[in-house]
Formats: sequence, C-alpha cells, structure tokens
Amino acid sequence: MCGIVGYIGDKSAANFLIDGLTKLEYRGYDSAGIAVFDGNEIFIEKSVGRLASLKEKLKGYTPKGSIGIGHTRWATHGRPSDINAHPHTDCHGDFVVVHNGIIENYMALKEDLIERGHKFLSETDTEVVPHLLEEFYKGDFASAVREVLKKIEGSYSLVFMSKNHHDELICAKQDNPLIVGIGEGENFIASDIPAIINKTRSTYILNDGEIAIVKKNSVEITDKNGNKIDKKIFNVSWNAEAAEKGGYEHFMLKEINEQPKAIRDTMRGFIKQIRPSKNNDERIAKDGSSIIFPELKWNPDFLKNIDKVYIVACGTAYHAGLVGKFYIEKLARMLVEVDLASEFRYRDPIIDEKTLTIFISQSGETSDTIAAMKESKRLGAKTLAITNVIGSSLAREADQVLYTIAGPEIAVASTKAYTTQLILMFMLALYMAQLRKTVSEDRTRELISLLKKIPAQISETLSDVDPIKTFARSYGFNEHVFYIGRSLDYDVALEGALKLKEISYIHAEAYAAGELKHGTLALIVEGVPVIALATQKSVYDKTISNIKEVKARDAVVIGIAAAGDTELEKYIDHVIYVPDTDELLIPLLTVVPLQLLAYYSAITRGCDVDKPRNLAKSVTVE
Ligand code: AGP
Repeated sequence: MCGIVGYIGDKSAANFLIDGLTKLEYRGYDSAGIAVFDGNEIFIEKSVGRLASLKEKLKGYTPKGSIGIGHTRWATHGRPSDINAHPHTDCHGDFVVVHNGIIENYMALKEDLIERGHKFLSETDTEVVPHLLEEFYKGDFASAVREVLKKIEGSYSLVFMSKNHHDELICAKQDNPLIVGIGEGENFIASDIPAIINKTRSTYILNDGEIAIVKKNSVEITDKNGNKIDKKIFNVSWNAEAAEKGGYEHFMLKEINEQPKAIRDTMRGFIKQIRPSKNNDERIAKDGSSIIFPELKWNPDFLKNIDKVYIVACGTAYHAGLVGKFYIEKLARMLVEVDLASEFRYRDPIIDEKTLTIFISQSGETSDTIAAMKESKRLGAKTLAITNVIGSSLAREADQVLYTIAGPEIAVASTKAYTTQLILMFMLALYMAQLRKTVSEDRTRELISLLKKIPAQISETLSDVDPIKTFARSYGFNEHVFYIGRSLDYDVALEGALKLKEISYIHAEAYAAGELKHGTLALIVEGVPVIALATQKSVYDKTISNIKEVKARDAVVIGIAAAGDTELEKYIDHVIYVPDTDELLIPLLTVVPLQLLAYYSAITRGCDVDKPRNLAKSVTVE
C-alpha cells in the first residue's frame, strides 16, 4: 500500500507533492520520491527511508515547475533502497511513473524489454511500465498509455508524466485507490483523500478500468479503450483525521475491513493454472490450479525431506502459527511444533539440518522472534520468515522470506496481518503437500477453489455487524469472558480472547472446550459470557456437549457457527453465522466476528482502540 500524489496547475508542484506525501505517509514509509518538470527537464529526487530523508536530500531546495508526481513506498517487490524508490523512468527520462500495486507479469515483460535493449536500474515490478511506454509511444501519450495497460496484469494505481506532454498527467486505476481532486486552474491526484482535503473537496473517485487525463483546467475520464465516461463529482465531507482512516473511526476498523483486499493481494502470484492435461481435458485446464512459491529458492527436495518443523512467534503471530501447525500436519503430514519466541531460545531446541524453522512476525522487528531466529540459525536450521515488512530485521536475517501483502498495519491490535499469515501458512502447507504428494490433485483443486472465495466471504461477514454491536453493548461491561472451541476453533478462540483483552481490558481467556471440566468450569457461573466456536465438523458433537456443560451452569453463550447449522441455536443464547466452507479455511472467517466483538466492546468501554494502554505495535525489547 503506497502513497501517490500528482499536481498540475500554476503553483509549485513540489510544495504540494511533499505536503501530500506527508499526509499519506501512513500508507507506506520505506522510501519516497518526487519528479517535477521545470519547463525543460524532469527533476527527480528520491530517497530510502521516511519522507524526512527525502526532505533532507532536497536540503530546502524547491524544484521549479508546476507539474509533478510523488510517491511514498510500501515495498512489495525489491527491498527498500534509493534505486528502488519511485518515481521510475524509461531509458531516456522522457517518461516518469509512480505506482501502487503489484504487476504480476513483470518478470516476463522485463525479460522481453531487456531483449529489446532496455536498461533497468531497479529490482521493482514498477519499472517495466515506463519502458513499455517508451516502446508503445508514437506521439500520442494517452494512446500509448492504453497500450501499456493492455500488457500489464495485476493491481495498480498509476500516474504517468511525459516530458513531451507536460500539460497533462495521465492516471489509471485497477484494484488500488486513486482520486482526482478538482481545483480552480489546478488539479490534484492522490491515492487517498487526506492528501488533497486541504486543497479541494470536489473529487473524482476512479473506478477499476478507468483512465483520467488531467490538465490544469480539465479532467477527462475514459475507459481502457478511450471511450469518454461522464463521471459524477464526489464531494468529500470527512475531516482530515477521518480521511486518513478512510472514513473509519479507527485504524483497527479500517484494517479489519481491508482484509478481503489484503488476502487477495497476498494470494496473488502464488496460484498457478496447471497446463492442460495430455488429452487437453478442458476441466483441468479451466479450473486446475496449484500453489507455486517462486520466491522460495530452496531445492524442492529439501522441503520434501524435512523431518521437523518449528513455528516460532509471539502474540497474534503465535496464534497464526498454531493454525499453521494444523495445516502442515494435516496436509503435508509433517511433524510441527509451535513455540513462543520468548520460550523457544531458552529450551535448547532439538535442531539439525533437516529442521525447518518458520518465524512469523507482522513487523519483522519483534526482539524475541529475531533472537529466536538467530539461535535457530546458530544450531544449523534452515530459517523462513513470514512477515509484512520488506527489508525488516527478520526478513534480512532469514534464509528465505514469504511476505504477507497486507499493507501497513497501524492499529496495535493485529487483524489483517493475522488473516494474511493464515493464508500464507495454508498455501505453504498445500505447496509442501504437493511436493510430498500427500494431497490428491482433486483435493488440491478443491481447496484452492475454496481459498479463492475467502475474500468475498469475509466481505459478506463484514456486511452485517449489527448483531455483534448489540452483543458488545450487552456484554461489554463484564469483567470476565471465556472463549471455547476444539481443534482449529480453539486456535481461533485464543486469538479472539487476545483481541478482546488487549483493547477492551476485559479479562478474557480461551480454553480447549474439552478442558473445561479439568478446572475452568469452576469459574463458569450464572451470567458469565462464553463465546463458543463450533465450526469444526469433525469434533462438532463433542463441542456441543461442552456447550451444554456451560449452559448447565447458566452461562450466557454466544456461538460462532457455519451458515446452515440449525443445531447449535437449540442450545445457546445467540448465534453468529459465518459463510460455510472447508473446516480448514473457516478460521479465516470465524476470526472476523471476534475481531469486531473486541472492537465494539472497546468502543462500549470508551477505550483507546488503536493505542491500548501499556502496549506497543512492535515489541522491540525482550
Ligand atoms: C496482536 O494484536 C498484538 N499487538 C501482539 O500480540 C503482536 O501480535 C505481537 O507483539 C507480535 O508482533 P509481530 O507480529 O510484529 O511480531
């Protein structure tokens, strides 16, 4: 999730670009850059690090010119560095581009462009765009842009600037936000409203497939074929602070709602269509698919012959690891141990050259997790990091890295990082199962087909939050809440309890449902809220009997069930349904009502949702 800005008018482009990037820095902050046309040449300055580093490089110099583009980066391809910072240009500096998104087919495009003699400077996917423009440009800027868009696959919001057409900027939008702000004798472009809200509240919110040709006194919107679109102006009513949260009251709620997109972005590029079978069976060619991990440079034989896996993490990432254990053991039939990072390194773990240690960390800066990885490497294990931050300490320390593409997670309570960690763990487990042939092709196709439906199913779950708001208001002042479940439901219950604990300060605990009678049942008295997860069909009857145990003690039971379950409601007080899917994938759905329950409980109690007391977003101390 990067931040993009553009300006065309009669004032200083650089002043707007720097100011706009400052307001978008929450969207990404590992490097920044601007490009301004001064009437003869395009001036470009960019720097790794936060925007302050770019300002430092400019040393108070304000580039001349009244047309320009700018970018603050959240790296997805290519580590944070000066050369990987945007903007990027073609071979001659005639075209300059900034981009937010992922160009999935950039490797093939880059190879072809190199063969045609193009010289690349960066490791980014974005850099193929200005070189493609150089290839297609025959004098008509907009027509060349349309040709470029036909070649690239993936997600993008793009802004193009040309030395030969310095009276216009061209924007294109697909799966990533882009807006045009309409001024008086000037126009503005941005990824998000905060960058322009102090300049204008009249905007065009671009839709997927739309192109905007922005001049200082006009904005023309077309489709990808150049057909004009008569677009309505959207007048922004938010204040600046609300705009940074995309109109949501808190970053946490924004990030909960970003999960469908974060999951789509994380899956992108890992699911490949199997080439048609020998007899060209249309069915396989159409819906066949398999998991690929081009980023994993290990020899597949190594992954096939591992005899032990450790998953090591803290907090929410640890809870994702518990689900990952279930996936790898169930699908790839490999022995997995999950450990808290703060414990792992002090218990003299049994490690050898056939051990794989996986470290999960949203920030990639958690001190305990980094230290555990160093210990694991000292003992000779291969190390894989799963992290959300390219270039983070953990990413740099690991032998191999898989990235969640969740975008910056600002709220202390982790939500979209958790679900994207589950997605990566699931795909890794299925990939290993493919290598070890422990799952049939049919089952692989079935699971991948269900996996692709998860983003839409999360959107469906997010579409009706009123029952959860009601529960939060009714039970939000209890001092003790219990979460119970079996199998994967237990793992998700642990995450649900942590969410409630850390932002509403309610004492919440999760228990394996079968464990209640071994002590915890003594705490279940009349009126105590119990959140019961009952989605795991393989242990459903056992879970129901545990629910009956707590109901017999007059607890108030809120159940989380799969749609179509007509049994659970007979035994409990309220049921929240999530769309039905394979019991391996349903944790991605059941966690969402638990995130929302924690969020609305914290609101009910007047807590600081995004910055809860005593906690930090990244625990960089032991
Ligand atoms: C989760 O909501 C908490 N903020 C916390 O448990 C967090 O998951 C933990 O500190 C690990 O952080 P990391 O993923 O950045 O390593």
